[in-house]
Amino acid sequence: MHLGQLWHLVAAAAFAVAAPARPMPRGESSPALLTGHAHWAAASYCTNNINSTGNAVTCAGDYCPEVQSAKTATLSEFDDSTQFGDVAGFVAVDETNELIVISFRGSRTVSNWIANLDFDLTDASDLCDGCEAHSGFLAAWETVSAAITSQVHSAMQTYSGYKLVVTGHSLGAALAALGGTALRNAGYELDLYTYGQPRVGNLALATYMTGQGVNRVTHTNDIVPRLPPMSFGFSHSSPELWITSGNDVTVTTSDIDVIEGIDSTAGNAGEPFPDVAAHAWYIEDIDGCQ
Ligand SMILES: *[C@@H]1O[C@H](CO)[C@@H](O)[C@H](O)[C@H]1NC(C)=O
Repeated sequence: MHLGQLWHLVAAAAFAVAAPARPMPRGESSPALLTGHAHWAAASYCTNNINSTGNAVTCAGDYCPEVQSAKTATLSEFDDSTQFGDVAGFVAVDETNELIVISFRGSRTVSNWIANLDFDLTDASDLCDGCEAHSGFLAAWETVSAAITSQVHSAMQTYSGYKLVVTGHSLGAALAALGGTALRNAGYELDLYTYGQPRVGNLALATYMTGQGVNRVTHTNDIVPRLPPMSFGFSHSSPELWITSGNDVTVTTSDIDVIEGIDSTAGNAGEPFPDVAAHAWYIEDIDGCQ
C-alpha cells in the first residue's frame, strides 16, 4: 500500500464518522474535512483537469483519491495567462457528494511568483464598504469572474440542492478568497477552503470575510500567508486553521490549531523563520500534480 491509498482509507474512515453532518461551527475543522477539500485544490494543478471540459477529475500520481472515488465531471476548465499571472482552474460537479466545486490553481513556479509579488492595494468597494484588495489578485479574479459566475448560475439550476465549494492553494487560494466573497455577495451560499492563502486585502476586507466565514488553512512557517506584509496595509481573516505538524507528516486532529482573531500572531504569522518549503505541504504535496 502506498501513501495515497493509506490516505484514502484514513480519510474515508474519518468521513464515515463525521458523516451525520451537523453544520460545522465556525473555527472548527477536522483532518477529514481539510483532506477532501485539499484534494480538490490539488486537482487543479493537473493539466488534464484544466485543458478540456467534461471529463472526470483525475490526478495522476494519486493527488486526489477522494475526488477520484466520486462521480465527477468538469463543467468548465480555464487556463488563461494574463498580465496578473496565470489564472487556471475548473468548475466541476461531484454527483456522489452533491457538490459544485470551483478550484483555482496556484503558480507552477512558486519561488518566482513569491519574488515577483507586489504589495499594491486597490479599491474594492464593489466587494464591501471601505474594502481594498491586492490589485493583482483582484484583477486576476476579474478576468474570470463573469464566466465563472454564469457557470455557477447554470450549474446550481441543473444540480439544485447541491452545495457550492470554492477552494485553492497559494495564488489559487487568493483567487478563491476573492471569488468566494464576490459569489457570496451575488447571493450564493458556499463553503470556502483556502490553503496557503496570501493576504488579499485590507482590514475592512478581512473583517468582512471573517463575517462571511473562511476556512483559512495555514501550515507551520509557510512564507506565503505572511505576504503581502501587514506593514503594507494587508490583513488576514479569522479564524486561521494552523497545521502545526511538519512537511511529509500525516495530519491528525491535534495538529490543527484554531487561531481566532483577525491578524493574530499566535499561528503562522508569529513563526520566526518563514520558509517556502512548508508552502508545498498541505495535507499532501498539494501542488505536486502536473
Ligand atoms: C490535456 O493534458 C493531458 C495531460 O498532459 C494530455 O494527456 C491530454 O492530451 C491533454 N488534452 C488536450 C485536449 O489537450
